[in-house]
This record gives sequence, structure tokens and C-alpha cells, in this order.
Amino acid sequence: MLWTLRLLVLAAVIVAALLFSSERGVARGEDHSAVSAKVDRGRYLVVIGGCNDCHTPMFGERAGQVPESEWLVGAPMGFSGPWGTSYPTNLRRMVDRMEEEQWVQYVRTYEALPPMPWWALHAMKHDDLQAIYAFIRSLGPAGEEAPAALPPSAVPSTPYISFMPVFPQGGSK
Ligand code: HEC
Repeated sequence: MLWTLRLLVLAAVIVAALLFSSERGVARGEDHSAVSAKVDRGRYLVVIGGCNDCHTPMFGERAGQVPESEWLVGAPMGFSGPWGTSYPTNLRRMVDRMEEEQWVQYVRTYEALPPMPWWALHAMKHDDLQAIYAFIRSLGPAGEEAPAALPPSAVPSTPYISFMPVFPQGGSK
């Protein structure tokens, strides 16, 4: 009688263990597809948001035909204007240094130098920014840090694109 009871308890433990592990298997499967859906959404937002135009070297020149492995590594080509000279940040290294929530809070409040359209990030929904973070993070860190921004008085030692407004002779201001 005692043995039968022990066997029953053992059988119950095995059945429970099997059920538990298959449930966890399902949960892991769901997590996995939820994560890849988030990464896919992030990729989509980065593409339609035009982030590669500045943050990926040669993206415009190559009409967008740049492998994803080279995306968002920042650029050593400066943008010079009345604000000084700014360099598109290496976003791959940036997200690698920050936790998701920390990055989301940062980009929702910071105001960058031109020509970064920071207001576009302020207007994005919380889960869109989380998706962008997940996508960039999925690419892994790569490339060098971009040079630090320069004040208007400094002459850049890197190549740069001039954004200086030009007023034609005799034209209106
Ligand atoms: C027209 C060019 C341009 C486009 C388009 C652009 N960026 Fe930027 N971005 C820059 C530049 C230049 C900087 C550096 C600004 C500075 O030094 O303050 C920057 C800075 C940033 C920073 C801040 C990094 C830091 O260290 O503070 C983030 C985050 C960022 N960009 C994300 C994005 C995302 C996401 C997109 C697409 C939705 C995007 N950018 C589109 C040019 C651009």
C-alpha cells in the first residue's frame, strides 16, 4: 500500500514536471516571436524615420544599398553651420552602453545639435522607441565613436558638409 502511494506520488511529480517544462517551452517560443516582432518594428521605424541617412556612412550615396551590418555606426563626416560642427552619433555603441528605459527617457528629453531632428524622437510613442532600441541593440556594437561636436569657433580637422546659409548679393535677408 505504501509502495503504491509512493509510486503514485512519483508519477504525479513526473507528470507535473513534464507539464511545467512544456509550458515553459511554449512561453519561450512566444517570447522569442514577440522579441523578433519588436526588432522588426524597430527596423521598419529606422527605415521610414530616415535614421540611416545621417547615422550610416554613404547611405544616401549608395541609394540605401548598404548591408544592415553597417547601419547606424555614426559618421566622421561633420555637419558645419552656425551651431559649430556636429557628427552623427554611433547609435550601435550608444545603445550598447544604455539600458532600454534609460535610452528611451534620454531620447525623449534631449535636444541635439542640428541637423538631428530630435523633435521626431520626442513625438514617438514609448513602445516605438523601445522597438528602435531593440533593433539597434540586435545589430550589436560596431565601428568607432563619432568625433565630439565642435563649437562655432573651431575649424574641423575632419571632412565636413557646410550648412552655412548663403544670401545672394542684393537678395533679401
Ligand atoms: C539629418 C541628419 C540626421 C538624421 C536624419 C538623424 N540624425 Fe540622429 N543625429 C544626427 C547628428 C548630427 C547627431 C549629433 C548631434 C549632436 O552632436 O548634438 C545626432 C544625434 C542623435 C542621437 C543622440 C546621441 C547622443 O549622444 O546624444 C540619437 C539618439 C539619434 N541621433 C537618433 C536618431 C534616430 C533614431 C534617427 C531616425 C529617427 C535619427 N537620429 C536621424 C543627425 C541625424
